Amino acid sequence: MRNMLMRNLILAALIAGKAAIADEVANHPEVDFSSLPRLGSNWLATNPYRGNTDAIRVGQLTYGQTCARCHGADASTNAAPAPDLRRLNAFCRRVEDAELKAACMRDNDDYFSKTVRQGKTIVGVVHMPAWEPVLSQELIWAVQSFIESRVEVSKR
Ligand code: HEC
Repeated sequence: MRNMLMRNLILAALIAGKAAIADEVANHPEVDFSSLPRLGSNWLATNPYRGNTDAIRVGQLTYGQTCARCHGADASTNAAPAPDLRRLNAFCRRVEDAELKAACMRDNDDYFSKTVRQGKTIVGVVHMPAWEPVLSQELIWAVQSFIESRVEVSKR
């Protein structure tokens, strides 16, 4: 009986913690991305900017204003309340066959863009707001390019 009570108290605290995160709405970043090639409104299947240094710069600015408060400053910590985004393509990075690796990255990009655009709502609780209303396609792929550049830094 006591254990049940403790368990419920812990659950309530956990849910309250998540809800505090969830109260936040997606905020509009102030980032000039006019130097990047325009992508239009049809969502691409894969990141067209991967490795582009300008996209990485724009992505870093955008990440700092929109993702850092939950996912950690400069995508360089795994102590943040939300998942370490550098791990997202860890599986694909280990695939050696070029064709399989490309397929893996396509799935990874699809998951990234869909998750970021739609946010994460689990049993009615918003864990992450939807970013589609405030981030353009250019900025979402730029953020991913930045996160991937941090993987390279952390491997050194
Ligand atoms: C208000 C806090 C918050 C902000 C701001 C936020 N996220 Fe999240 N994000 C979360 C949480 C919490 C999760 C984990 C959701 C779950 O429980 O599955 C998550 C999950 C994700 C995932 C899926 C990770 C996985 O391992 O499956 C991606 C991708 C992601 N966020 C990208 C972003 C990007 C890019 C930004 C900035 C544009 C951003 N997030 C801003 C809280 C946030």
